[in-house]
Amino acid sequence: MKNLTRLFLVVGLVMLVVSCGRGNFSEKPPVHLNPNMDSQGKYKAQSESNFFVDGASMRTPVEGTVARGELREDDAYYLGKDANGEFLSKAPMDFTEDMVKRGKERYDIYCMACHGAKADGDGKILFYKYPIPPANFHDDRIKKLSDGHIYNAITEGWMNMPSLKAQVSVEDRWAIISYIRSIQQN
Ligand code: HEC
Repeated sequence: MKNLTRLFLVVGLVMLVVSCGRGNFSEKPPVHLNPNMDSQGKYKAQSESNFFVDGASMRTPVEGTVARGELREDDAYYLGKDANGEFLSKAPMDFTEDMVKRGKERYDIYCMACHGAKADGDGKILFYKYPIPPANFHDDRIKKLSDGHIYNAITEGWMNMPSLKAQVSVEDRWAIISYIRSIQQN
């Protein structure tokens, strides 16, 4: 019994010393006892393919494919338009305090540089000689614009104003409108 313990100890020590060996470089990949599905033939995004005629591994989606959560059927919400394609006079939801708060935050980020901190069209951009003065939201003409029209201005741009649809989400566009309406009342 004693001898057996000693044998185990010696074998263990030898294994320990051997496993600690440093500086032995190897060109071979490390031993991978159970590779599971780690190594398998596959195409990576944007990679080349000999299989498809166009040489690309990525396929274009079938026409009419809609990504999950991207079905934008609600024209009122996504376009600011009614069933006849006319701009909605009022937003398709009730404005809440949270919306106004979020809207102010987004306005300050995305609109203030041009339309000014007081929304009077007196933004910093004028300092750089922007050729057309941005709209003054306290103007009677702008006050009378429909919610749908403002939504569309943010989404598609308006004459000399660029589209901001890439920067401002649909939800935030409505929030900004709720904020603009709240300050127009003052
Ligand atoms: C790069 C500067 C710039 C930014 C940023 C900008 N605007 Fe404008 N905006 C303008 C200019 C310039 C006009 C006037 C365009 C014209 O009449 O040619 C304008 C006009 C408008 C109008 C009036 C449209 C009309 O029918 O006369 C609205 C509403 C408006 N902007 C909303 C916004 C909102 C909301 C944001 C932020 C989400 C925003 N803008 C961001 C420059 C800007």
